[in-house]
Amino acid sequence: MSTPLFEKVAFIGLGLIGSSLARVIAAQHLAKQVVACTRSAKTLHDAQQLGLIDAGYHQAAEAVVAADLIVLAIPVESTAAILAEIKAVVAPHAIITDVGSTKANVVAAAQAVYPEGLPAGFVPGHPIAGAERTGVHAGKVDLFAQHKVILTPLPSSADWAVAKLTQLWQAAQAEVICMDVDKHDEVLAHTSHLPHLLAYALVQQLVNREDNLDIFRYAAGGFRDFSRIAASDPQMWHDIFFANKTAILKAVDGFSTQLAALKQCIETEQRQTLIGQLGHAQAARQHFNHMLAQKPLMEKHNVAQQFTILPGAHRFQGKFSVPGDKSVSHRSIMFGAIAEGTTHVTGFLEGEDALATLQAFRDMGVSIEGPKNGELTIHGVGMQGLKAPASALYMGNSGTAMRLLAGLLAAQSFDSVLTGDASLSKRPMERIAKPLRLMGAQIQSTGERGTPPLSISAQPALQAIDYDLPMASAQVKSGILLAGLWAQGTTTVTEPEPTRDHTERMLRAFGYEVKTEGNRISLQGGGQLVATDIQVPSDISSAAFFMVGAAICQDSDITLEAVGINPTRTGIIEILKQMGADLTVSNERIAGGEPIADIRIRGSRTLKGIHIPEDQVPLAIDEFPALFIAAACAQGRTVLTGAAELRVKESDRIQVMADGLIQMGIDCTPTDDGIVIEGKGKDGDWSAIFAGAEIESHHDHRIAMSFSMAGLRSYETIRIVGTETVATSFPSFTELSKQAGLEIQVHELTE
Ligand code: S3P
Repeated sequence: MSTPLFEKVAFIGLGLIGSSLARVIAAQHLAKQVVACTRSAKTLHDAQQLGLIDAGYHQAAEAVVAADLIVLAIPVESTAAILAEIKAVVAPHAIITDVGSTKANVVAAAQAVYPEGLPAGFVPGHPIAGAERTGVHAGKVDLFAQHKVILTPLPSSADWAVAKLTQLWQAAQAEVICMDVDKHDEVLAHTSHLPHLLAYALVQQLVNREDNLDIFRYAAGGFRDFSRIAASDPQMWHDIFFANKTAILKAVDGFSTQLAALKQCIETEQRQTLIGQLGHAQAARQHFNHMLAQKPLMEKHNVAQQFTILPGAHRFQGKFSVPGDKSVSHRSIMFGAIAEGTTHVTGFLEGEDALATLQAFRDMGVSIEGPKNGELTIHGVGMQGLKAPASALYMGNSGTAMRLLAGLLAAQSFDSVLTGDASLSKRPMERIAKPLRLMGAQIQSTGERGTPPLSISAQPALQAIDYDLPMASAQVKSGILLAGLWAQGTTTVTEPEPTRDHTERMLRAFGYEVKTEGNRISLQGGGQLVATDIQVPSDISSAAFFMVGAAICQDSDITLEAVGINPTRTGIIEILKQMGADLTVSNERIAGGEPIADIRIRGSRTLKGIHIPEDQVPLAIDEFPALFIAAACAQGRTVLTGAAELRVKESDRIQVMADGLIQMGIDCTPTDDGIVIEGKGKDGDWSAIFAGAEIESHHDHRIAMSFSMAGLRSYETIRIVGTETVATSFPSFTELSKQAGLEIQVHELTE
């Protein structure tokens, strides 16, 4: 048996939290000896009966002798008295921690007891878990599982003490976060203490009414949900409200202002403002849900969802439309927000990335209705109307949102910070920060090696630049053009090769003049955008998975309706055609300034390997993961060059695809700027070629969806781990794939 984490653990107090932690220690044999001190003899007796402690004491000073971990699981106001009592007998290397829900007062109490300096083992903590029940019998071994524990190490705290406590809480399956003491108290005042105060206030308000019995009798879910926490222990909350007085009073003030504003909207019948405020709150609540659900993404191997694709799909057929274009959806919000007047958007992609952009503009004071069935109404605030967001803007998984917003925010007269998820946090941001700095912007990529978060300072006067883009990037081009809207003079961007031109097209649709001369795009700053209606076409990048799926599957027949076929996006069509796919484009028309068409692909011909023309690379930049699957099914070798950009997408798409393909038995060699894939296909032979595999998607939606399609030609099960990001661009992917005939199952791994 391995050495336990601790020799002797002493609990001072053994209520819900203390006894739950004691249960974890007992269950996992984390200590050689566990003792406790409580006032109640019955508690000690019961704890011994339950097998939680080896010995019980009534004097803390007796309990802590020779303990290497002391856990203060007592009301926070008793901290000073207990610390004073045990000071003389605490072992020199003992870790002393607590579980109180306020931290500044615990630290102050310790400082009063240790004026000469706090012990290195003193590390305050706060498990954010609880229940309305209290006492040693209420404890549960899984009380902390999937909950957060905040540690607030002090400058005096030793690293070893923090590390050991982290190990302890992780053994309880908690997620450990370290935070500054004041920050902890402020965060908790808003997220826990204020809601409790409000719940008590609401229930009390109803109790004071004469008809309260009726009201309680008829109260429905809303009252029950809102008031649940008013059933908590009054003594404990009384203590907390005083313990965190300063931060709570501030939170109450903030809430009073908010409530008064809502009251006034109702009083004066400001319907538009009220709907805007409620909509903002509703969207923020949904967004928080998303952020909470995304949390596991922040840890390297922790993922929230998995796909299992069973072999042997014998059919891949159907006629349907895929959701709206991601690039166009992002831009519709941005341009609608800074336009004069009201913009209506249809076909909007309700994927998580575009919703994050929506939230960002709501956070900057833009009133937006929807989305509902792909429809949005954006009440534009004009070029000078954006307001400073109260906190960092979260861009989820989206490089497009972050780079375009960087340009837009660089020109505003307020500071802002842009953050993102685990994948976005690794992506290069200097490519946009550098040209913006040349325009006079104050912008820093504050992550390691030029990665997010991006910190942008107020800068009302940008200068236009004439910039040669070092890489073919529509995002960088667009970010610069967006900053150029506010800059003095004419901003010109020259691209090495044409990239998607949605920004140029949409600016023109909003009445803004943009000149395109060959690869040079320019616009003059200082104009204004006029609201318009935007019809978002179906995303060819989402259609691509079905195009490839149909191309590799015998007798398949898929028609994708109303797909955007902007010539800067149609590389996938050209490349598949060159590989010999049976693909037809029909019913070409224009919708909302963008060309669209129906695309039909049939599985009637074996694909052949090709050398992909480099001029097609920017035009198919997002479709390569899917195209690699097609190449693996083709007869002969496919060679891709000139695609180094693939290495800095949501994941390193060259490496991640190569790793997965090799696992599935495909011979392929990644190169600096591309890949060589030895196709396993044989003319006229549609048999399965992919071996089973467990693919790590690296938080990249397109990796997950591409390998899903490989299931159409696999002879074993394919598992794809970390598929939650599929919802960023294609929320209905699994539904449509199933409908077409793919045997795909979704497993939620957490919550
Ligand atoms: C996009 C541009 C491309 C593309 C991304 C969307 C856009 O990125 O990969 O998915 O909307 O401008 P780069 O501009 O970095 O190539």
